[in-house]
Amino acid sequence: MKPLQRIQSLEDYQRVYDYSVSDPEAFWAEIAQSFVWQKPFTQVLQWDFDGPNVRWFEDGVLNITENCLDRHLPQKGNQTAIVFEPNRPEEDARSFTYAELHQAVMNFAQVLLNQGVKKGDRVCVYMGMVPELAIAVLACARIGAIHSVVFGGFSAQSISDRLIDANAHFVITQDGAFRGNKVIPLKSVIDEALLQCDFVQKVIVLTHTKTSISMLKDRDVWWEVEIEKVGQAHVAPAPMNAEDPLFILYTSGSTGKPKGVVHTCGGYMVWANYTFEQVFQYQEGELHFCTADIGWITGHSYIVYGPLLAGAKTLMFEGIPTFPDHGRFWDIVEKHKVNILYTAPTAIRSLMGFGTDVFQGKDLSSLRVLGTVGEPINEEAWHWYHVNVGKSRCPIVDTWWQTETGGIMISNLAGVTPDRPAWATLPLPGIQPILVDEHGNENHEINPETGFVHGNLCVKFPWPGMLRTTYGDHSRCYTNYFATYKNLYFTGDGAYRDAAGNYRITGRVDDVLNVSGHRIGTAEVENAINRHLGVVESAVVGYPHDIKGQAIYAFVVCSDHTHESEMIRRDINETITKLIGAIAKADKIQIVKGLPKTRSGKIMRRILRKIAEGELDHLGDTSTLLDPSVVDEICTERL
Ligand code: WT7
Repeated sequence: MKPLQRIQSLEDYQRVYDYSVSDPEAFWAEIAQSFVWQKPFTQVLQWDFDGPNVRWFEDGVLNITENCLDRHLPQKGNQTAIVFEPNRPEEDARSFTYAELHQAVMNFAQVLLNQGVKKGDRVCVYMGMVPELAIAVLACARIGAIHSVVFGGFSAQSISDRLIDANAHFVITQDGAFRGNKVIPLKSVIDEALLQCDFVQKVIVLTHTKTSISMLKDRDVWWEVEIEKVGQAHVAPAPMNAEDPLFILYTSGSTGKPKGVVHTCGGYMVWANYTFEQVFQYQEGELHFCTADIGWITGHSYIVYGPLLAGAKTLMFEGIPTFPDHGRFWDIVEKHKVNILYTAPTAIRSLMGFGTDVFQGKDLSSLRVLGTVGEPINEEAWHWYHVNVGKSRCPIVDTWWQTETGGIMISNLAGVTPDRPAWATLPLPGIQPILVDEHGNENHEINPETGFVHGNLCVKFPWPGMLRTTYGDHSRCYTNYFATYKNLYFTGDGAYRDAAGNYRITGRVDDVLNVSGHRIGTAEVENAINRHLGVVESAVVGYPHDIKGQAIYAFVVCSDHTHESEMIRRDINETITKLIGAIAKADKIQIVKGLPKTRSGKIMRRILRKIAEGELDHLGDTSTLLDPSVVDEICTERL
């Protein structure tokens, strides 16, 4: 069986998987050759996790937009590429054919060139979920500029941190974004962010909400005015080396500020396309609806690049699942006849709370495949999704992956390999996972009682879509992902594996939280809290939450105990919102007199985690603490 063909059975999968592991270079060369290369590659892979130094198809030259757009024109020019569903259902849905999208991307690419953007420049994109966001991203790729999309929920401070880190001289934004009943004032957030970033030369502003905004002379220009000037532009796809950066996407880790994960043109392209086709088993003419925001990797890979590379129809939804009511997703499925629905467990759990009456009279028969991503899915949510949305006839792909992996790593293949509630199941071809103990030794032994091996999830061989570096600081990439265990990429997750090789992801084993599918570093939240004037120090941990998966519990020591605690709590959350964004607000803030510390001054998070989880009887050994009495106090006043 050729690696390029669709895997059609479990046996196919096994054969293909074995080939991908026994001869990875031949396997990936064959797949990569099916793309349009301006200059074919002759080298397939060089790698060393000790750098790390990973290079795929290194001497090949290509442009991802030529593969997303130009190559489809002869056959699919008049077919739909993007369907746009606006925030308000009564407004007209818009759509773009491949030919229209191609032209729109070239036009905006010309605008970027006119504004002085050059190959290799970093361009920050801070927009809502409108088609112009996809156009902006693709236009950057067209001319070889590196896009750095920042999710519209992040604060001005987070944006300036990212602009500074990437030294981005260009910003693309819009006046405002609609989200349900709210208008998010994107341009004014950018204005605030840019107070700290005088190196930004140009801000291109799309008119969308018609909110009144201020435009800074010589710096700010209107999208529509500039588009008007270029007419029907022709911009050739810039020749990019396979290993040239395609984009930066910031994500949280267990220490410090978010890091800019860098993905490259060739490998990411191959991986996004391959995983999209194999996992969802996309069929010609189908409509794919991924509910993520393009501000996250899921949107990059499975709204924009994966579907367009495959010549698929992709749906972009501007709004939220509960507006105008909680039946919105199902209305969209019915209205556009969605075939593949890809969403997050947290969305499913929150919609579960509204009951099943909402499905009455809705026609969801177009659905063929359901998917989930972002966090472990509990069995109850899985079954609800399976029965009520999929009417017990659609396979559910539980896709495990990360910003750093570029695309799906472990998942069943829709209708081809079996699904199993709460299990991501099998690694994709080319992915070689390994479970290790805390010393990096492989765990093989299946526990006879459970039937599983447990361990920290690592990957021992490179795959085309893996991150290459963290922007501006390569050593951080090494420390974060490759230093923990020699010659292994460490994911930060724990997992079980059964005798048949299926994986069940248990969640993060490091100080990273997953709140409603959003990745948040505890250190980042602590740093924000500590910036509040009344705060001496703080410790942040996660605890289980029915809808969000995990929620944030902050233990805070304040300088002045006479403070009204309700007020200081509110202030602290305002500080977090200002420094990071509302997604990182603490669900519980407990003001404490002291934090449990070892004699060497290290905060014992293990104990705080247990307290937050309510496991007061399982705190473990507290005798090594500097002052064990603080634990009693914290327990009595637990929220
Ligand atoms: C972390 C990565 C990759 C797209 C969205 C999140 C968790 C992701 C699953 C899943 C269990 C999952 C992991 C991972 N995660 N998908 N199917 N089952 N956990 O990307 O923000 O980079 O977060 O999300 O903990 O490490 P991200």
